[in-house]
Amino acid sequence: MNDPRADREIDIRAYLSKKKKEVDKALDHLLPTEDTYPKSVNQAMRYSVFAGGKRLRPILAIAAGECLDVDPAAVSRLACALEMIHTYSLIHDDLPAMDNDDFRRGNPSCHRKYGEGIAILAGNGLMNLAFQLFTEIPDLGTDPGLVLITQRYLCQSVGTEGGVIAGQVVDLLTQGKTFDETDLNYIHTCKTAALIRASVVCTGLLSGADPAVISQLEIYGLKAGLAFQIVDDILDIIGDKKSLGKTIGKDEKEKKATYPALFGLEESRKKAEVLIAEAENELHFLGSRGRILRELARFITVRRY
Ligand code: IPE
Ligand code: IPE
Ligand code: MG
Ligand code: MG
Ligand code: MG
Repeated sequence: MNDPRADREIDIRAYLSKKKKEVDKALDHLLPTEDTYPKSVNQAMRYSVFAGGKRLRPILAIAAGECLDVDPAAVSRLACALEMIHTYSLIHDDLPAMDNDDFRRGNPSCHRKYGEGIAILAGNGLMNLAFQLFTEIPDLGTDPGLVLITQRYLCQSVGTEGGVIAGQVVDLLTQGKTFDETDLNYIHTCKTAALIRASVVCTGLLSGADPAVISQLEIYGLKAGLAFQIVDDILDIIGDKKSLGKTIGKDEKEKKATYPALFGLEESRKKAEVLIAEAENELHFLGSRGRILRELARFITVRRY
């Protein structure tokens, strides 16, 4: 039985900080060293990855792996691939041709430090390395096709058909234009929720979980991911530059399609709360094993960074 007192005892921040250290160690091991030729691109990749970051996506993959008993060595590769893809998306998101943001993770953004050309290539390099990591996922002793199925799901999640790139394209096309709830949900679901959903679903796919489990993880990830972007929109208005490590107030200035722009702050907050409660509900099938994933979803609404 699920003990509610034990639930409360979990300090999700301690969990996040412990897992972040593990992820950072693995990333350090996998990324090319600073003195690898040509240095600029390899340094830029490390600069953006290690500038900061919560490591939420890799930590979601690891937490799902703990629930489903997946080999930690395999999940670690997946976790690093997710963070590399996420960091690539941030480097490109900040470029002058996109959001034109000078700060990221508390430091000058990649193109401010290394120039646009190297920043574009560092982003490409991170994405490339992420997919290379799949060839190194240890044999799980199950169907080797599972690794390919997982890789395919991740590729689709960041691609041009309902994935991160699709979301970023519509984000750009909508900028400065009128938009409705359908446009907004498309953008937020694709640009942000798709990778968050993939973080738990890819672990599920690697584990060979049955389709019912995968579909519950998909709903959890989608709802938590959408809530994550709503909170990101809210923090762009009420957040603190120092703790967020990025410029505040950019969305309104650039006339971005955001939840607060369409619904106001209060309503947006409520919508994020409802989504998180729904995401948590999806995990009943895991019983007390799903506690960390539920706490991680909760963290998304209360975070200030
Ligand atoms: C920022 O993501 C970009 C969005 C998808 C909203 P995070 O808030 O997870 O950024 P880091 O990784 O902690 O820097
Ligand atoms: C970015 O959304 C989502 C990505 C795919 C990177 P935002 O443009 O709102 O992210 P921030 O606020 O710059 O981190
Ligand atoms: Mg953007
Ligand atoms: Mg941005
Ligand atoms: Mg934002």
